[in-house]
Amino acid sequence: MRGLRKLMVILSGNGPTSVVNRRRESAGQPRLLFRRPVPFGPQLHSPRRINALLAGLPSRNDYLEIGVFTGFTLQDVRAPHRVGVDPDPRFDITDLPRGVEFHTLESDSYFATLDPAARFDVAFIDGLHTYEQTYRDLINALAHVRDGVILLDDTVPDDELTAIPDQAESLAVRAAAGITGLRWHGDVWKVVVAISRLHPELSYRTITNRGNGQTVVWRTSPDEPVATPSPAELEAIGALTYAEVLADGLPDWFNPMDEDAAIRAALAGTSGRSR
Ligand SMILES: C[S@@+](CC[C@H](N)C(=O)[O-])C[C@H]1O[C@@H](n2cnc3c(N)ncnc32)[C@H](O)[C@@H]1O
Repeated sequence: MRGLRKLMVILSGNGPTSVVNRRRESAGQPRLLFRRPVPFGPQLHSPRRINALLAGLPSRNDYLEIGVFTGFTLQDVRAPHRVGVDPDPRFDITDLPRGVEFHTLESDSYFATLDPAARFDVAFIDGLHTYEQTYRDLINALAHVRDGVILLDDTVPDDELTAIPDQAESLAVRAAAGITGLRWHGDVWKVVVAISRLHPELSYRTITNRGNGQTVVWRTSPDEPVATPSPAELEAIGALTYAEVLADGLPDWFNPMDEDAAIRAALAGTSGRSR
């Protein structure tokens, strides 16, 4: 798989960037994003899912990613216009591939200044993994994704410890329990609870195979306004514990299913719409 991916990277014209990145890595410099998405072959689970969504949508021009980190997903997304938002990017933002726009901002600041007329076909929400921030990112993104699909990252925590909303605390508690690795999902799972209980105007499915659990979300009808739950309703969901909701496994109302079925459902739910 690794060898095949390497070959695809070279065939797609990203070989020179790979070489430059190896030099940059040993010099402690930020990496460059690949010049163009790798067109086929194995991909990480996020770009694989995002590209499958984009390929099936009637409009597939504009992609938004909240939380970009090293850019491994952003660089592999096949859309002519890709927008990334992250206050602490780990790649060279002064030398971006054609069609990539980047904002070194927290997502709240980005959305506060975004033209209300801006539209995205797919948005990937993978920034700060807390319920409050991810819910805000979802609602803000919905204002700009009318006929497309939003992908929420890490909606299925491995266990109670990866679901602790404070990353440093989660990692410390896991280390103390003798668990190795840096996995952290936060309490993004509560956003699925909020969608299920407070947003009848949204449809969603949760992907549970081939990589991290993620949830696809779309407007059931593009003309129906997004609900505005009260602060008390949102706080009640924030107060839920892992044990109350997830101790016996993922509830049916998360709509758990495999990747292909979830993507098919999202595309069927949005098919034929145009911006
Ligand atoms: C899990 S990483 C993103 C990974 C990336 N989407 C990918 O697939 O390779 C999370 C990123 O979110 C960023 N982040 C944290 N708080 C944020 C915020 N308020 N707005 C946007 N990004 C944020 C962090 O700097 C970090 O780079």
